[in-house]
Amino acid sequence: MSRHPLTTIQEDEGTVLILDQTKLPQHAVLVRLNTLEAAAEAIRVMRVRGAPLIGATAAYGVALGLQDDAGDEHLEQVLSVLAETRPTAVNLRWALDRMAALLRPLSEDVRVLAAWQEARAIAELDRKANAAIGVHGLPLLQKAVQGGATWERPLNVMTHCNAGWLATVAHGTALAPIYAAHQERLPLHVWVSETRPRNQGLLTEWELRQGGVPHTLIADNAAGLLLMQGRVDCVIVGADRIAANGDTANKVGTYLKALAAQAHGIPFYVAAPLSTIDFSCCDGASIPIEERSSVELGADAAIPVANPAFDITPASLISAIITEHGVFAPGEVAKLKP
Ligand code: MRU
Repeated sequence: MSRHPLTTIQEDEGTVLILDQTKLPQHAVLVRLNTLEAAAEAIRVMRVRGAPLIGATAAYGVALGLQDDAGDEHLEQVLSVLAETRPTAVNLRWALDRMAALLRPLSEDVRVLAAWQEARAIAELDRKANAAIGVHGLPLLQKAVQGGATWERPLNVMTHCNAGWLATVAHGTALAPIYAAHQERLPLHVWVSETRPRNQGLLTEWELRQGGVPHTLIADNAAGLLLMQGRVDCVIVGADRIAANGDTANKVGTYLKALAAQAHGIPFYVAAPLSTIDFSCCDGASIPIEERSSVELGADAAIPVANPAFDITPASLISAIITEHGVFAPGEVAKLKP
């Protein structure tokens, strides 16, 4: 390992260092991004992943891309290369829109410096937003613990995919209230679903192990049984895009957990920063769903495969959305429009 601390993304002398998530949990390897192409590839092949981290990496990708040519035409090319990398997480478009709005009116000679500054601001905003999600989500868990949790029978929280610090610049979204609760020494245990086909649950398992948070890894298909048996007190997941009506796109498998949670009267929470809310998108049906390679299913090229990477959880199945501005009913998110 290098002298650099283990964070998902950091600047280093005009380059960007990322923690390569395709190597986790076996190896913690930092990879240096020097170019636009390297940043775009890192997003595409999921060396960096998770909606907020995709957005921050794209912002830094703009800064890297402008270093050799900060002209108008090249700026547009850089923005469009990055916009094409992954379709569902709206944080990507949010970050690129922010970069574009700032950089387009500037003259070439000041663009590079401004791009680095803005990428840094986007990263810092994510860090702060996620810390605030932890603060706002904590009372939901504290209230649930008051229902009688002890270390013999801790509060059981289920999560899906990885919406921890690995998926963000810092703190995580769904895991932020869990880390806050752990810091408050609440008796808490996390059910971590494997998240086929890419096994992001193993990233969550790794994170929680590093943080000393009690947890158990389960196969995705075990979630329904655990919910039915009363072994889950609430579900918290992250989001890749929340429509204006509260419908939420998140990692495929989220919807099934929400259905099962509602069937058994278990609260189902979504945690996400404002950068994940697409106010221009009226409902879940308008959210583009990424279709990924059949290779992820280990299938032979001759086998017909469908591999949607995300699904949509209708607002009606979501108990509340935890943001950096507080906790809202899904139908209320539209009023958060800046
Ligand atoms: O395909 P991924 O691993 O980028 O998908 C990540 C998720 O679905 C996360 O739950 C979501 O981005 C929230 S991350 C804080």
